[in-house]
Amino acid sequence: MLAPKIIGSLVAALLQFAAAAHDAASIWAVIAAGSKGFYNYRHQADACHAYQVMLKRGVPADHIILMMQDDIARSGQNPFPGKLFNKPHNATPGSAVDVYAGCKIDYSGDIVTADLFLKVITGNASALPPGSGKVLKSGKNDRVFLNFIDHGAAGFVMFPNGPELHVQDLHAALQKMQETQMFNELLFYMEACESGSMFPNLKVDGKVLAVTASNAQESSWGTYCGEDAIVDGRNIGSCLGDLFSVAWMEDDDIGTGGETISGQIDRVTTRTDKSHVCTFGDVSFKTEPVADFKRSEVVIRDEEKALGSVDSRDIPLFTATYNYEHAKGTEAKDVAWSRLQEVKTDREADEAVFHLLATSTCKGNERTLKRWDFTKRDFEEVDCEEAIISEKRQMKDSDCHKALARAVSTTCPARGGASGGWNGYNMKYSQMLVNMCEERLVLKKEIADLEVIVRGECIAASQAALAAPDIVV
Ligand SMILES: *[C@@H]1O[C@H](CO)[C@@H](O)[C@H](O)[C@H]1NC(C)=O
Repeated sequence: MLAPKIIGSLVAALLQFAAAAHDAASIWAVIAAGSKGFYNYRHQADACHAYQVMLKRGVPADHIILMMQDDIARSGQNPFPGKLFNKPHNATPGSAVDVYAGCKIDYSGDIVTADLFLKVITGNASALPPGSGKVLKSGKNDRVFLNFIDHGAAGFVMFPNGPELHVQDLHAALQKMQETQMFNELLFYMEACESGSMFPNLKVDGKVLAVTASNAQESSWGTYCGEDAIVDGRNIGSCLGDLFSVAWMEDDDIGTGGETISGQIDRVTTRTDKSHVCTFGDVSFKTEPVADFKRSEVVIRDEEKALGSVDSRDIPLFTATYNYEHAKGTEAKDVAWSRLQEVKTDREADEAVFHLLATSTCKGNERTLKRWDFTKRDFEEVDCEEAIISEKRQMKDSDCHKALARAVSTTCPARGGASGGWNGYNMKYSQMLVNMCEERLVLKKEIADLEVIVRGECIAASQAALAAPDIVV
């Protein structure tokens, strides 16, 4: 949780940010949704909603850059073709807010990658893939708002295509933006599991303030799921939003202007009750005295409380189970049952791979790892596999972690419609790669040795997945 003193200065920072919103020419926004597939409906609904919020704040359309796969609105699974909803709605049919209407997407489809995101935010317009061609062109007096929504893990977040965005590369891009004077202040809202791991090196005076949906070791949550995913009497069949994202956007929507934004983090922190909203970096933009600030009361009306929240890691299983239980007719039941079995089998297969990986890593080192035992006041041997799988080491060797994470994405089997070896569920094992890297000296392994082990297990799993018969209903 945030210390009160941090909240005070954070709020001052946001006040200034809010005030600047009226000076439209100086604000820029980049919004990215990092997933595809109908079970990830919520990320693109969040992204289009964020686009609408930026317009409403007065950011001119040509200063907003939006990238997302754009496969949801027109998906055959969408009960409202060409529309996206970010909130349940049961009032007058037809009056629900379609956030897809007027949502102008600059880059869509298979070109939406981490590499493109980095190019856009650093203003590098060379060799861009087809799209609007827009990149961030902000200058040293400008304020930049970045918003990323998707799956994340210890040390990286995903994009719908291509490899993950590693913390090391994101940090380098932010540094480059600073060096090339692309902002006066930069505010980054990030929704992803373990997103608190993405900003470890922001300077307290770097004019970059990052707000994350969760801390470095927990999931972020989807919301408006299951029976709460209903619009005009029809269930969408996927969660409509993410808890942190709808919290800040609905806070904006109630439209109390600067004052609302000033207390936004407070209110968002309160409403995001399943994970810990965290802030990183520069919370000390002190041009606005804290004393000037009247902190708004944290009052959340019942109808604003997020309904039906589900741990992001479990959303495919939750959704498949819900859809199976509610499917009508034999044929629909069969399809839903088959989908549910697939999700379960994929999860088990992923768990098996990473457990085998722990076994291989610990081979010959079963008795090497020791931990201080406070009661015995001595070092005690710990089970290597157990430690590698379940400890929460802090990432220091990011070169090692980046190499292992990349090995998983390029060689592990792509499950559940993912574009590489990582998916929303198995990304929780990114922490295990951190543990492997942090123990590698004790385990007497070079980075290359660990890469060989990761690739070995991933390739074996990919071959097994190819050989496995399809599930027959
Ligand atoms: C811009 O992107 C191109 C193509 O990916 C790359 O070769 C170049 O180094 C980048 N320029 C800068 C200044 O980073």
